[in-house]
Amino acid sequence: MCGIVGYVGWRGAQEVLVNGLRRLEYRGYDSAGVAVVDGKGGLEVHRAAGPLDNLVAVLPEDGAVGSVSGSSAALRATTGMGHTRWATHGPPTDRNAHPHRDATGKVAVVHNGIIENFAALRAELEAEGVELASDTDTEVAAHLVARAFSADPDGGLTAAVRATVARLEGAFTLVFTHADRPDEIVAARRSSPLVVGVGQGEMFVASDVAAFIDHTRDAVELGQDQVVTLTADGAVVTDFHGETARTRPFHVDWDIAAAEKGGHDFFMLKEIEEQPASLADTLRGHLVDGRVVLDEQRLSDQELRDIDKVFVVACGTAYHAGLLAKYAIEHWCRIPVEVEVASEFRYRDPVLDRSTLVVAISQSGETADTLEAVRHAREQKARVLAICNTNGAQIPRESDAVLYTHAGPEVGVAATKTFTAQVIACYLVGLALAQTFGTKYADEVAREYAELESSADAVARVLEAVVEPTRALARDLAPSKAVLFLGRHVGFPVALEGALKLKELAYMHAEGFAAGELKHGPIALIEQDLPVVVVMPSPKGRAILHQKLLSNIREIQARGARTIVVAEEGDETVRPFAEHLIEVPAVSTLLQPLVASIPLQVFAAEVARARGYDVDKPRNLAKSVTVE
Ligand code: F6R
Repeated sequence: MCGIVGYVGWRGAQEVLVNGLRRLEYRGYDSAGVAVVDGKGGLEVHRAAGPLDNLVAVLPEDGAVGSVSGSSAALRATTGMGHTRWATHGPPTDRNAHPHRDATGKVAVVHNGIIENFAALRAELEAEGVELASDTDTEVAAHLVARAFSADPDGGLTAAVRATVARLEGAFTLVFTHADRPDEIVAARRSSPLVVGVGQGEMFVASDVAAFIDHTRDAVELGQDQVVTLTADGAVVTDFHGETARTRPFHVDWDIAAAEKGGHDFFMLKEIEEQPASLADTLRGHLVDGRVVLDEQRLSDQELRDIDKVFVVACGTAYHAGLLAKYAIEHWCRIPVEVEVASEFRYRDPVLDRSTLVVAISQSGETADTLEAVRHAREQKARVLAICNTNGAQIPRESDAVLYTHAGPEVGVAATKTFTAQVIACYLVGLALAQTFGTKYADEVAREYAELESSADAVARVLEAVVEPTRALARDLAPSKAVLFLGRHVGFPVALEGALKLKELAYMHAEGFAAGELKHGPIALIEQDLPVVVVMPSPKGRAILHQKLLSNIREIQARGARTIVVAEEGDETVRPFAEHLIEVPAVSTLLQPLVASIPLQVFAAEVARARGYDVDKPRNLAKSVTVE
C-alpha cells in the first residue's frame, strides 16, 4: 500500500522519481506526487489524482533525459521524493495526494502506513492555529517536523524527524525533505518496508528495490524503528533515539529485465508464463545431502520435533496456497493442520503454545493481517515459519524459520507465479517436517522432491497447450454475469483461487465451491447458460472422487449450465459432459493444483482484457496490503 521513492545525487531528481514510481505503481494508483528541492528554487511539489500519467501530464517538461537545467526547481533539482497512493484517510483527490507540506511550505513528507493517533495530533495543531490542507493522517507529520526544525535548527532535519516519530503511533514509513536542506532527505521506518539503494555519488530510498533497480543493485535493508539520513555521499542510519543502528546490506539478485513487461501487454501475462522458472528456482538448492533445508532456521531439530500441531495463516491467494499445504503436511507428517485467514486468526484466541508451528505465507512479507497473526503467535510462544517472496521483509524477519519463494518480482497486482511458488514451498515445508518427525525416510523424501521438480515441466506443457484455446474461451464468456467454480479435495482450493482471480480482475461475480456442497445450497444458483468451471481430479488415483464429480457435472448440466471442465489428458469419461474441455497433463495428486490453476489464471486475465480492464491494476486493489 503506497509506494515511496526518494533520491539524492547528481541526476535530475524528477525523472528518477517518476521512473521509480512507475515501478511502484503496483502498490497503489489512486494518486501520485513528487517533491523536489534545490538550493535556489526551494521546494516544489506536484500532485495529481488518478494514475501516474496524470501526474506526468502536470509536471514541468524536461528537455533532455537526465538534464538538470531549466527554470523551475523541478528541472534543476537533484534531490526529491515521490509517492503513489492507495487511499486510506481521505478520498483519492489532488488535495489528499502526497507529498504533503507544512504551513510554511518548507517541509514535505510522503508516507506509507497509518498514523493511528493522527486525530489527536491534528486537534493539537488546530488548537495552535495551524490550518490543515488535507484530510489525511500524513499531513500532521509535516507540521510536526517543521515545528521541531524551527525549535532546533542546529539539530537539522534528522533531529526534527526523530522528535516527530517519537510522537507517532501506528505503522509509518515517512520520507521528508526541507527547503533549507537541499542536499539531504531523511526517512523513518516503522513496520512498512523501506530499503536504501547505494549508487555512485547518489543514494535512493524506496518501498521496494524495483524503484531504483535501473541505477543500482546494491541495497541496504532498514530495520524497524530506524531513521536514515541520505546525502549524495552515503547514508547514516540510527534508531529513533539517535543511536547507531545495525543494517543489512544485500545485492539484488534480479535485474531490470525482470521488472519489465518483456513484450507482453501486461505484467500478469508475463508472470503467468514465468511459472516453470519460478517453480524450478524455488525448489533449487533445497535438497542437500538427502535432506530438505530451509533458507533460515533459528529453531533446533528438537524444537521442531516437539511440534504437535500446525496452523497455516495467510490472506487471499496465499491462503489458497495454505489450504494446499494442509493436504501435503497432514498426508506426509500425520499431524493436524488448520488453515485460517490471517485477519481472523488472532481475534479468536487460538490455542497456541511452544509445540505449535504457525506457517505464515505472504508474497510481500508485509501484509498487516499476516504480520499481526505472526506477532500474536510469537507472543503465545508458538514457533513461526514464514514462506515469503521478498528477501528480508518484516514477516520473515520476525519468524523463527524462513523459506523464500524465488518467483522474482511480481508486478501484476493479481498473484500468479507467486501462488504456484507458494504451493511448491508449502510442499517443501511438508517434506522438511516429515524428515524431522521421521514420518518419511530419506529415500522417500528424495523421491517426493524429484516429483516436485517435475512440476516445472508439467506447467510448461500446460502453458504451451492451453493459453490460446483458453483465450478464445475467455472472449466467448466475457459477457457473462457470473461464473461458478467447483472442485473437490486439492481441486477445491484451485476453484477458490480461480474465482478470486476472476472477481479481482474482471469485476465479475465468481464463487468457488467444494463440489460436494453444491447440493446443500449453491445449486440454486445454477440457471440456463451460467458458466461453471469444474476442476476434475484424476480418474486414476482418485477414482471415487472422480465418479462423484462426474455426477455433480451431470447435475449442473441438467439444469442448463455451460460446463467448462479442467481434466487430465486422456480422461475420456468427462468429455460428453464438457461443453469446453481444458486438458492438463497427468501429474501426481499434489501437483494437480499447479497445472489446473494455470488455465484459470489465463482465463481471468483474458476475460478482464476482453472487458477492457487494466489487468495489472484492478480497481480498488494494491499489491501489498499494509493496513488491517
Ligand atoms: C490476489 C492477491 C491477494 C494476495 C493477498 C496476500 O491475487 O494477490 O489476495 O494474495 O493480499 O498478499 P501477500 O501474499 O503479500 O501476503
